[in-house]
Amino acid sequence: MNAVASSVINGLLSVKPLAKFAKNRARTMMMDRAETLGIYWRDEARALRMRAAASTPLDLRQAEGCEVNAIWEADLKQIENPDLVYPRYYTTSFHAYDEGNLGWLPASEVDVAARAVHARIWPEGDDRAGVNGDASLRASYHQVIAQTLPVAPETIVDLGAGVGRSTFTLQDTFVNAQVTGVDLSPYFLAIAQYTQSQERQDTPPIQWIHAAAEHTGLPANSVDLVSACLMFHELPTSAAREIIAEAYRLVRPGGHFAIMDMNPQSEVYRKMPPYVLTLLKSTEPYLDQYFALDISEAFESVGFTTPTITQNTPRHRSIIGKKKA
Ligand SMILES: C[S@@+](CC[C@H](N)C(=O)[O-])C[C@H]1O[C@@H](n2cnc3c(N)ncnc32)[C@H](O)[C@@H]1O
Repeated sequence: MNAVASSVINGLLSVKPLAKFAKNRARTMMMDRAETLGIYWRDEARALRMRAAASTPLDLRQAEGCEVNAIWEADLKQIENPDLVYPRYYTTSFHAYDEGNLGWLPASEVDVAARAVHARIWPEGDDRAGVNGDASLRASYHQVIAQTLPVAPETIVDLGAGVGRSTFTLQDTFVNAQVTGVDLSPYFLAIAQYTQSQERQDTPPIQWIHAAAEHTGLPANSVDLVSACLMFHELPTSAAREIIAEAYRLVRPGGHFAIMDMNPQSEVYRKMPPYVLTLLKSTEPYLDQYFALDISEAFESVGFTTPTITQNTPRHRSIIGKKKA
């Protein structure tokens, strides 16, 4: 039955107009559900695109008269590396956005979407569920890091920093660390930099680098902790392996590389009906490759110790490997 449903869904998704309809419908449902939880997806994302506080409707109306591109143009120019050549796997559709990660619509929605998706990690009634889900997810990862590393890291590189959510929370956990965020989307980084300037004047500045995590350009043996939070499920195997090798190059002897992402071995994914998994895969083009990767072997093959793998939520795992001293 499941296999039939799965192949029916695959068939439907191969018809472009139907796939578009399904994606729009799924998107609307997600936004509606988020809003019932108190995560005001549409308003927050629109306010961010327009750079107006959602609580000031007048400002928002005035700002809407301007073009989003014009509002953000200077920021984009400032952060964008004009010489960067995007890997082909990256310039595809992700998360039901045709432009993938390269545009203002996805950039303005990363944060609300993360809070909406993570609202459902823990069951209703659990303190960690609902609006607390995203913060609880990150706290559970940082707890594993704190328990594994012998001392708090003083230098951290956050690969796949996005709009800065993982980077800011690492900074807030390891308050004395000097933190760098690396991402391939200049749109996401422009928002990270803007958020830092608006909301985080009292915290140490984070350096943002527009680069591929495969080739960060940062010095070798220079970092106590390289972290990649929710990035690996977006990577084909070849890129995942290259990034693990780059992390090994960056980490100082005795330093660590940590990944937090979906846990293919968790019951949630093992018992997920195949047709639901098929729908999920339609928005995550490399999920199959991520699920198939032997992560311990990939760490060991570049020189890391056998990593510890800890289930930190019902459906996420934290993987931490060490570079021998
Ligand atoms: C799901 S988001 C996670 C963002 C953030 N780390 C968080 O925890 O919210 C994945 C991020 O990885 C970035 N990314 C994907 N492939 C990348 C690569 N090869 N190099 C650098 N960034 C990459 C994407 O642009 C996106 O911002």
